[in-house]
Amino acid sequence: MNTKTVSQPADKNHVLIFDTTLRDGEQSPGATMSHAEKLEIASLLDEMGVDIIEAGFPIASDGDFQAVSEIAKRSKNAVICGLSRANFKDIDRCWEAVQHAAQPRIHTFIGTSPLHRAIPNLDMDEMAERIHDTVTHARNLCDNVQWSPMDATRTEWDYLCRTVEIAIKAGASTINIPDTVGYTAPRESADLIRRLIETVPGAVDVIFATHCHNDLGMATANALAAVEGGARQIECTINGLGERAGNTALEEVVMAMRVRKDIMPFTTGVDATKLMHISRRVATVSGFAVQYNKAIVGKNAFAHESGIHQDGMLKNAETFEIMRPEDVGLSATNIVMGKHSGRAALRSKLEELGFELGDNQLKDVFVRFKALADRKKEVFEDDLLALMRDQESGD
Ligand code: KIV
Ligand code: ZN
Repeated sequence: MNTKTVSQPADKNHVLIFDTTLRDGEQSPGATMSHAEKLEIASLLDEMGVDIIEAGFPIASDGDFQAVSEIAKRSKNAVICGLSRANFKDIDRCWEAVQHAAQPRIHTFIGTSPLHRAIPNLDMDEMAERIHDTVTHARNLCDNVQWSPMDATRTEWDYLCRTVEIAIKAGASTINIPDTVGYTAPRESADLIRRLIETVPGAVDVIFATHCHNDLGMATANALAAVEGGARQIECTINGLGERAGNTALEEVVMAMRVRKDIMPFTTGVDATKLMHISRRVATVSGFAVQYNKAIVGKNAFAHESGIHQDGMLKNAETFEIMRPEDVGLSATNIVMGKHSGRAALRSKLEELGFELGDNQLKDVFVRFKALADRKKEVFEDDLLALMRDQESGD
């Protein structure tokens, strides 16, 4: 048996970030990544301070097994976790892959809700026994075991408490409470974790995790609410990649807890200045483009086109930005020139390009600029240079 002990964060307000881009994220239809791409993403996650990387599902394929093993060998700081169903064969294969890590973790799960219990056709007692046996087996291989009751948010309360207690007694040190189908809502998410910690014997000695899907667009809100309820591990993915509508987006929870630490006094170990780069790499390797208006990492998250906003931004960036672009790894705010832009932004853009205009000159150029902007969606620097050439030659 592995003898390393599992470290619990000393700071009670520290939230562990568990990234599952390479497991739940890769399960998005069409998001398959190559071996080399997975190693690259794992190394970026490790460098940016993610605490636990769920590197894959080793029994799923030889490719997944190889990727998890290699990531386990290479990881420098993060705990490396593999997923396994609730049977010995899965768990053994998972251990074979993660055992190479300095800090390995086995994550094993079973669906506990009535709908999910019907699939392996186990009654409540049979499933309880299966949980006991599989968590015990995993714990005999590895001292860091995470257990998840899949579809926890649609599992009967008494049965959920019973199964969580069994997993804790069998040696799980992290209990993850998945909202597998994105069904819960923030208040319910917070209450569920709070009540589990208050009710289940031994719950105060383990870490509770939250794993939210985004089917109703509430994954980030639900994850943060779970933290308010006492969860100290958030499971999430870069760009919110994941099954169906995806998972909680890592960049959103990390920045929400930073920007609103006045009401959410929690910390993470993530270096947020690396967010933009990893977001772009995940978009490229998964083939899932990031929507323009995606929070934190979308192309427009730090872009301003309207005259009122641009004027405000030029005077004081805090008027329309609650984070600085540099905080997430962008070099600067993007002032986009288009038909909604005003005179102040045009003057500033032209000054950047080396043109100092008097008021009357600016008035003339502004009329030409608006005519051009009406014809084009966005006016680029080259368009402005052409406009100034025409203006100066009197065309
Ligand atoms: O959504 C889910 O329930 C999962 C489990 C395997 C943790 O991804
Ligand atoms: Zn999931």
